[in-house]
Amino acid sequence: MTHSKIRAIHLEDLDSVIEIEQNSFPNPWDQSIFFQLALNGGRFPIDDDTVVIMDVMGKKGSVLGYVAWEEYGEDKHGHILNLAVHSAHRKKGNGQRMLNHCLTSMKSSKIETCELEVRESNHWAIHLYENARMTAVDRRVGYYESEDAIIYALTFD
Ligand SMILES: CC(C)(COP(=O)(O)OP(=O)(O)OC[C@H]1O[C@@H](n2cnc3c(N)ncnc32)[C@H](O)[C@@H]1OP(=O)(O)O)[C@@H](O)C(=O)NCCC(=O)NCCS
Repeated sequence: MTHSKIRAIHLEDLDSVIEIEQNSFPNPWDQSIFFQLALNGGRFPIDDDTVVIMDVMGKKGSVLGYVAWEEYGEDKHGHILNLAVHSAHRKKGNGQRMLNHCLTSMKSSKIETCELEVRESNHWAIHLYENARMTAVDRRVGYYESEDAIIYALTFD
């Protein structure tokens, strides 16, 4: 089986990314965030110290999923901001592939630690992160208003 390519987001991908986002999260990201990332070839510098990166999986204009993360600070931290797979393409290893892609990219950027927030009820996302050797390190009470976030982290070797 040939895997779909993982690559930087393009403007042509916006419709499918926005559709996945709106179907995946109760509080989807504003469309303008994806637009800015696509306009900048998937790398958006916030300041001298921080860059947000977004890669998608699939053909131009027909995306199966995406991952977005930021890299920041002199100590080289990584923070996974968003990860989603189209509902028709879940449970086929696509989420795992995109997470691995993101972690490998961070490692090659010499990132030392990575973390993310996940809803405590999001068992399949938690399963994915634990498969990738991430561990629960903290809880943010009320992070999602009605629900706590669990903080997962990984220190690169
Ligand atoms: C979380 C998400 C990205 C997982 O994507 P995916 O492509 O289904 O994940 P994978 O196919 O790589 O699955 C990884 C593991 O989880 C399991 N899994 C994932 N979803 C599952 C489900 N609904 N039922 C049973 N198993 C599931 C897989 O079997 C696999 O386990 P294994 O490797 O031990 O066999 C996807 O469900 C999604 O987009 N959810 C909505 C957005 C979201 O919650 N994002 C995370 C925010 S923190």
